[in-house]
Amino acid sequence: MIETGRARRGVSPLLRLRGIETAYGGSQALFGVDLEIHAGECVALLGRNGMGKSTTVKSIMGLQRLCGGDVEWRGRSLRRLGAHRIARSGLGLVPEGRRVFPSLSVRENLIATAREAPGRAVGWSLDDIYGMFPRLRERQRNLGCHLSGGEQQMLAIGRALMTNPDLLILDEATEGLAPLVRGDIWRCIQSLKERGLALLVIDKNLGPLMRVADHHYILEKGSVVWQGSSEALRARPELVRDHIGM
Ligand SMILES: Nc1ncnc2c1ncn2[C@@H]1O[C@H](COP(=O)(O)OP(=O)(O)O)[C@@H](O)[C@H]1O
Ligand SMILES: [Mg+2]
Repeated sequence: MIETGRARRGVSPLLRLRGIETAYGGSQALFGVDLEIHAGECVALLGRNGMGKSTTVKSIMGLQRLCGGDVEWRGRSLRRLGAHRIARSGLGLVPEGRRVFPSLSVRENLIATAREAPGRAVGWSLDDIYGMFPRLRERQRNLGCHLSGGEQQMLAIGRALMTNPDLLILDEATEGLAPLVRGDIWRCIQSLKERGLALLVIDKNLGPLMRVADHHYILEKGSVVWQGSSEALRARPELVRDHIGM
């Protein structure tokens, strides 16, 4: 199953999923998912609709309770922490569907969940976010509900960055956006990677995703069926055909 090792002997991953199982009521969605993300690495989570990508993300963030396995962050279990504490532990989420606060302004959205970077002299400031997305500066007094889809996506990313995460999770961040705006989001993701942020990216646009990701996991019905590098994935077009559908 593992086509290319990324053995980093002696280096433990930032995030490690150990056989996680998650169910919605009586209906099991994840069947023992193992996944690792190292510091500074960009990992892609692939698979068709309904295969368990968002459930994996919700399980990491404590938004969906595990019924088996464990999520370890810097070697410590997150299993008994609530979603609020997990969100303040250095894991930032840009959720599927963006979910900006509709009745708060852009500026209020950015500061509502902001968190200082512990042990780091300089974290993300409002100015940094406005530097990355000048459109948000222009719109800073507008309400979340009055923004375009692209602006809402930039705001969702900015809001997650204001928690000063060490790992940023993006669940379908380019979904439903016009091609130009999509390009802006990919450039943002690339620049976050260059700054050394670890990333977990879920996206249907395999081309840009393969350019930015170091390692890929393919989910099929709640289980990892393959993992490997972008190069290894490029060499296996049948994997893309059978499990990703492009
Ligand atoms: N809130 C929910 N209640 C019940 N079942 C759900 C819920 N969310 C997702 N599921 C089911 O869990 C499975 C995985 O869904 P999901 O993780 O959203 O897939 P993906 O993000 O890969 O499209 C699907 O069978 C889906 O129908
Ligand atoms: Mg999803």
